[in-house]
Amino acid sequence: MTLWGGAFSQPTDDAVRRLNDSLRFDWRLYDVDITGSIAWVAELVEAGVITPDERDRITAGLEQVRAEFARGEFQPAPGDEDVHTAVERRLGEIVGEVAGKLHTGRSRNDQVATDVLLWLLGAQAQIAGAVAALMRGLLAQAEAAPNAIMPGHTHFQPAQPLAAAHWWLGHFWALARDVERLKSMADTWCDRCPLGSGALAGTPYAIDRQRLAERLGFRRAAPNSLDAVADRDHVAEMLFALALIGTHLSRLSEDLIIYANPAFGFVRLDERYSTGSSLMPQKRNPDPLELARGKAGRLIGHLAGFLATLKSLPSGYNKDLQEDKEPLFDACDTLLDVLPPLAGLVETLAIDEARMRGALVEGMLATDLADYLVGRGVPFRQAHHLAGQVVRRAETQGVPLSALTLADYRAISDVFEDDVRAVFDFDAAVARRAAHGGTGDTVWQIAAAHDWLDQISAPATPHRPE
Ligand code: ARG
Repeated sequence: MTLWGGAFSQPTDDAVRRLNDSLRFDWRLYDVDITGSIAWVAELVEAGVITPDERDRITAGLEQVRAEFARGEFQPAPGDEDVHTAVERRLGEIVGEVAGKLHTGRSRNDQVATDVLLWLLGAQAQIAGAVAALMRGLLAQAEAAPNAIMPGHTHFQPAQPLAAAHWWLGHFWALARDVERLKSMADTWCDRCPLGSGALAGTPYAIDRQRLAERLGFRRAAPNSLDAVADRDHVAEMLFALALIGTHLSRLSEDLIIYANPAFGFVRLDERYSTGSSLMPQKRNPDPLELARGKAGRLIGHLAGFLATLKSLPSGYNKDLQEDKEPLFDACDTLLDVLPPLAGLVETLAIDEARMRGALVEGMLATDLADYLVGRGVPFRQAHHLAGQVVRRAETQGVPLSALTLADYRAISDVFEDDVRAVFDFDAAVARRAAHGGTGDTVWQIAAAHDWLDQISAPATPHRPE
């Protein structure tokens, strides 16, 4: 028997049931579903709908169902459409008829909206933790080789020398935004509780929704029941946040795949974090990085797909909304699969400082050559042009910039003096870019990254149930 079959004279077609049923994936909501139900019966007592004794029996029964799920002992029964009906069916078997009072004044619409929101808040914290673990690895690499210098690229062409720490920290700060994005979601629109909205129009019982919201760790109650049951903005926002994390991991992976290629040889992956080829014995393949890069596509797909699900829904709950769970769960699972191996890979890889330095070419100092002229009063546009002529002359002669004679330089501009040699110092070029945020001040950046990690791992103001 379904929970809603009173007006029906025929059973649901089997194929429809297979399509409709969601227990195979939404069982994961059992914990938050039961937490929500326990808060709900507490408020039903306050509203004078059930007695304290009934509340206690229902609550004890729900805790038993929770324990069965947690131990993996929960047995689905035919007719268990989704996690909500399954929990209620099992509750009835345990506590008898009083179980039928649990759903008073409530609908699965406000129930599932609340469950998904609570689950999502838990997942945010978990993913933020996994991202932070990877960030610790990036920071450790930045600190491990304070003097390493490598070519920086724009358009993937050699551009200017960078402290290797600056490159590691570039990825660190992108992920810092991701973690802050997840955390800030919890403190904005995700702090409104949908429970007590009923199916669409609200609940007719004297439920104190503010107190109910606070019981569940929310700051306030959602202000409009019709909106509250159909609002999945937080799912879309979460999918965006996860897709962007995936995008950042993909870019980090792409860099590392290139740098691990022997033609670059800037990094060498630890054997535990790379794989071999079944054919070519010399290969060391960066599979975890390729998978991180590949899975970004899947995360982006979940976001695009779910927005399409939402876009044409008429007001109120529609069954389309059941499609919120699989992308959300899969996106979270995907990142929780990808992040730990990436963190391990970053932590254990070896950088080759000599190969990094060996890849620097003097052309990367052409900007510094222009700045040399600027320092002697030449307007930058003109200095840029003159430095370009130096590059051209060196190319024509097939020599590095520093191998041109002073006469060559002075043929281009008599502002050049013998001290122009001092320009050809990669370390000095890096150190010179010391204005805030530049590659020349990684000492400050490393300290700031530590501060950031300390703050983010400090316990947040607890307004969520643990
Ligand atoms: N399994 C449903 C979902 O995930 C629960 C809500 C069902 N509501 C309804 N009116 N049929 O969306």
